[in-house]
Amino acid sequence: MEKNTLPTVFVILGATGDLMRQKLIPALFHLYKEKSLPELFQVIGFSKDDLDKDGFRHMVREMTQAKVQATQEEIDSFSKFFVYEQGTFEKEEGYQKLAEFLGYKDKEWKVCSNKLFYLAVPPQHYKTIFENLASSGLTKPCSKEEGWTRVIVEKPFGKDLQTAQELDRMLGALFYEEQIYRMDHYLGKETVQNILAFRFSNSFLQDSWNKKGVEQITIRLLEKEGVGERGAFYDGLGALRDVGQNHLLQLLSLFCMETPLKFDGDSLRRERAKVLKALPTISTDDIKTYAKRGQYEGYGEEKNVVQSSNTETYFSIQTSLKNDTWEGVPILLESGKGMKENLVEVEVVFRHPTPCLCPSEANKHYHNVLHYFIQPKEGIAMSLWVKKPGPIMTIEEKAFTFDYKSAFGKEEFADPYERLLLNCIQGDQTLFVSTEEIMASWKFVDSILRGWGKTKAPLVVYPKGASAIETKLSLAVDN
Ligand code: BG6
Repeated sequence: MEKNTLPTVFVILGATGDLMRQKLIPALFHLYKEKSLPELFQVIGFSKDDLDKDGFRHMVREMTQAKVQATQEEIDSFSKFFVYEQGTFEKEEGYQKLAEFLGYKDKEWKVCSNKLFYLAVPPQHYKTIFENLASSGLTKPCSKEEGWTRVIVEKPFGKDLQTAQELDRMLGALFYEEQIYRMDHYLGKETVQNILAFRFSNSFLQDSWNKKGVEQITIRLLEKEGVGERGAFYDGLGALRDVGQNHLLQLLSLFCMETPLKFDGDSLRRERAKVLKALPTISTDDIKTYAKRGQYEGYGEEKNVVQSSNTETYFSIQTSLKNDTWEGVPILLESGKGMKENLVEVEVVFRHPTPCLCPSEANKHYHNVLHYFIQPKEGIAMSLWVKKPGPIMTIEEKAFTFDYKSAFGKEEFADPYERLLLNCIQGDQTLFVSTEEIMASWKFVDSILRGWGKTKAPLVVYPKGASAIETKLSLAVDN
């Protein structure tokens, strides 16, 4: 039997929360519809809410209906995968009940099933859950040969280097690295996976993808929305921990990594980690110059946010990599909520040689600029210089574009969660973050948080709906 077709029990801790509603239910439903789930499959929801199996199935049906297009029959049959155990994360009893259920399932199926634990909970619960998983023996596989046990943890993994190390030690006592799947949903996005195809399958890029060919790289993740209903989670966390330490640095590692020896999980994760390890820490004295932060106007009035909060909702960081390939190339990382537009993109500005055949006005260089759009537009635009038709030699910048949707005619890409859950069931860790990557990224982020903590960079208020350029300018003036 193929490993991923073995009977599998999927235990979701925090099964009545927002992640379940927004991401896990639609992802599982699509996998079910595509027949990608193992034939014998069961989801056990675990949470403190007072529900029984029928109540939970009712909730699952409602969640499904709200998120996917499906017939009532499909929804009913999908909901039969779900059962429920009530318990708190703190008390052992709940974990004992889970263990009993797992034992019962194995007897019913007459196998030692695969077990997948998903922590769909805020990170402050991780420690308690790990301790209880350990003491209840829940995560022990039956034997080396039969049935695997895996765990999926969401970002943020820790809130700084020290807490990430503590969590890692606890996880390490329970699981081998091969069993730990640290989720960063950006890695599951179609356009993010295309970065490697784009970089390593287009040979014309190879020779210029380094400090000799590239003048600057900017990675930006801008969002129109504010924190909305997520104030309690976001406040005290801030933009840098929320999307910088993970999504932006993962994009950076994919854009700047060396050619991997092979296209497999180990090689790719190793190369991504090497990039993150080459990020120099920023000294507290340099913080004001290289790591600016802002907060959108009215943030303090958001639901569940402390009115006098110092949490940043915008940051703009300048760094570079300390390695032979990229040394000296400025890398800008920028993200904000409450911005004018939704835009996730990487911009690569190529060098133009000096001395050059430049137009006479102010010795202006012809820069080729690559815009790699991740969302909402999905595609690539490369600015090229062309001769404007006519008797005079005038050169103009024009964009050569590739648009994913029109090229492949797909209405919607598969949700990253769908792909990532499937990869975890299949035992493919390529799109999950390794411990090396986590630690290296926290080391860099920690140095900024330390500097900000010592108020070496003022928190500048920007109007909601400001463009990235306006925000950056107001930060520059206030500094
Ligand atoms: C999440 C952050 O990890 O990523 C959110 O917690 C952010 O604050 C989100 O909005 C962005 O993800 P996406 O897929 O919508 O770009």
